[in-house]
Amino acid sequence: MWDRKHFLSIYDLTADDAKKLVERGIALKEDHHAGRLQPLLEGKSMAMVFRKPSLRTRMSFEMGMIGLGGHALYVSDEEIKLGRREAVCDVSRVVSRYVDVIMIRTFAQTEVEDLAKYASVPVINALTDLYHPCQVMGDIMTVVEHKGRIDGLKVAFLGDGNNVVNSWINAATKFDFKFVLGTAKGYEPDPMVLERGKADGAKVEIVYDAHEAARDADVLYTDVWASMGAEAEAEERKATFKPFQVNDELLAAAKPDAIVLHCLPAHRGDEITDSVMDSDQSVVYDEAENRMHIQRAVTLELLGK
Ligand code: CP
Ligand code: NVA
Repeated sequence: MWDRKHFLSIYDLTADDAKKLVERGIALKEDHHAGRLQPLLEGKSMAMVFRKPSLRTRMSFEMGMIGLGGHALYVSDEEIKLGRREAVCDVSRVVSRYVDVIMIRTFAQTEVEDLAKYASVPVINALTDLYHPCQVMGDIMTVVEHKGRIDGLKVAFLGDGNNVVNSWINAATKFDFKFVLGTAKGYEPDPMVLERGKADGAKVEIVYDAHEAARDADVLYTDVWASMGAEAEAEERKATFKPFQVNDELLAAAKPDAIVLHCLPAHRGDEITDSVMDSDQSVVYDEAENRMHIQRAVTLELLGK
């Protein structure tokens, strides 16, 4: 069992924690499909606070709780207006009185950290501008499921050096894979995350050519070119990232048995083509499903179950 109080960043995990989470996610998936999930969260509840839209995160957390006998309560920011109608510290203290765990999706990572600071229950980061840790733990579970391992593989990410990339760099300090980002100048990942990752021995490389990034990769990964909050830059980014589109030609540069991941939502025709999304090498729907299993693992560990 963990001694972690919160799940704010993959960087906070030990390598052993990270490996065990993946193993537990895989075991929970087997139990789920065999109809033998135990009601380990009976009587437990989760508040899900969203300041940005969501399909997967909301549904996977909510169904994740329900499947384990617990309850999840969706709270839109329209109601609580976190930090505007009420200070984060007060929201945190009040919500902690009602539920056993808080999940939050918001803009600033500091907001999640503040919420955790004042909470008397565990807090889970369900995406910030800086990180998307639940996503990348689910992604690693998906790679292990399809490739049998993550260690020793080459993961190539094409596109913006965003929150998902930052979480992959954090993951590269816990697992032994090579992470190559193919991006445009000016769209590199967070410098602190990159420097800290490299100092911790993460095998991370940034290249400015899509083919160079994709060459001999075991995993090709892409994400939207304009993340939530950067919509105003969408047109400019579309032009900049065009050479980084994951299409049949780029896929051919990867290993013949490479798998393709995308955290979704996808903008088909922009960062990924229909033919790659719908190809046999695409595992994007397994990846989406695995969010539920890995988040169950995270929630159970946080609640000491
Ligand atoms: N991948 C992901 O987090 O999807 P949503 O934004 O739909 O939750
Ligand atoms: N980088 C994307 C991920 C969406 C799940 C965003 O932040 O919008």
